[in-house]
Amino acid sequence: HGSQEINEQGQLTIGGVNTVKLAEQYGTPLYIYDTSLIRERARGFKDTFEELGVKAEVAYASKAFSSIAIFQLMKEEGLSLDVVSGGELHTAIKAGFPVEKIHFHGNNKSYEELAMALKLGIGCIVVDNFHELELIGAILAERGGSTKVLLRVTPGIEAHTHDYILTGQEDSKFGFDLGNGQAEEAMKKAVAMEGIELLGLHCHIGSQIFETTGFILAARKIIDTVASWEEQHGFVPQVINLGGGFGIRYTNEDQPIPPAQYVKDMITVVKEEVERHGLDMPEIWIEPGRSLVGDAGTSLYSIGSTKVVPEVRKYVAIDGGMSDNIRPALYRAKYEAVLANKAGTPVEETVSIAGKCCESGDMLIWDLPLPVSEPGDLLAVFCTGAYGYSMANNYNRIPRPPVVFVEGGKDRLVVKRETYEDILSLDLPLD
Ligand code: LLP
Repeated sequence: HGSQEINEQGQLTIGGVNTVKLAEQYGTPLYIYDTSLIRERARGFKDTFEELGVKAEVAYASKAFSSIAIFQLMKEEGLSLDVVSGGELHTAIKAGFPVEKIHFHGNNKSYEELAMALKLGIGCIVVDNFHELELIGAILAERGGSTKVLLRVTPGIEAHTHDYILTGQEDSKFGFDLGNGQAEEAMKKAVAMEGIELLGLHCHIGSQIFETTGFILAARKIIDTVASWEEQHGFVPQVINLGGGFGIRYTNEDQPIPPAQYVKDMITVVKEEVERHGLDMPEIWIEPGRSLVGDAGTSLYSIGSTKVVPEVRKYVAIDGGMSDNIRPALYRAKYEAVLANKAGTPVEETVSIAGKCCESGDMLIWDLPLPVSEPGDLLAVFCTGAYGYSMANNYNRIPRPPVVFVEGGKDRLVVKRETYEDILSLDLPLD
């Protein structure tokens, strides 16, 4: 998909760049991003809102993959940015991302993080809880100034996805409950606070979601609520942020709908509900992460050892694993892969791809059809662009792989390979 092709030597190319050459140049493991696909996805979201004539902001949920270069690319595409920590915010500022287009999320933002955001003049703070409202109040009282705010609400929707990435259900650590008066109380508090400009509400129902039903239910609930608030309290939201979570295809088991369709379905419902209640159409903000960068990323590994358990399974080990892609171990996530240097060779056997971490659970792919491989062959695992590098770690003191952008036949290193010395750089000896 995207700009992936197989050349005359049967080798996988991405963005017109030969993956075998990339492995020689940068080593493995390696993350490769097809940036034309990211641009296409970004434009797709923006164009859909434009076609529908709806004022919108598309914020890239940077937790999916944050680095200076990706933030610069999103800036080029005119997107806003969703950050959830001082670290992501700092990276965005270093990338030259316009601070007024950054939205600050998180269920336990610290005093220091909030002070940093307010000092920088952050575009919007998505307030998650009462404690945070108080912290913001205290900081503004101390330093003066003002800030735009959205309230994160929990609409009480159960989306169909993995439990760990569900967020819209009532029993969730995130946001003010819509159902029991919490959200209303927060709205009243925020409206009354000096220096706070309450723009509206935010909700995010979960991630890797394949139906529009959940988004539609959430939008309905939110608009019903704000309609009653308008009547009772005269509060009119300018913005409704419906979050991210649009699912993508990892394997044949996934049947995502086109990203534009999520937007169209949500907007149809919002327009209906707004009309029904006689409200003005608010701005609609969304914050996709995975659906912008997920399928643009490919991980490239070298194959090393194998082990055959007779009559049961053949394990083929690669030079990475749960240190660069924790998703299979954490969510039983599934991936497709090919031998990048033998991409034209027919499939001959079924193997299971093992990582190199000291843990039985470090399996990247179970039962993968592949041509017969030998040590040194390259394995390309697809759709690793979201929550791969961003969740990478140094388990077993394995250095994190570098990141390369490819587009139009050119490659560019955007994150260096971590070295052993980088890993050691924070250690202090006893003597
Ligand atoms: N907005 C909020 C408030 C979120 O919490 C998230 C994701 C997003 C937007 C972006 O969701 P996306 O469009 O990427 O689905 N580590 C997990 C996913 C956790 C998602 C957390 N929040 C994974 O690897 O599947």
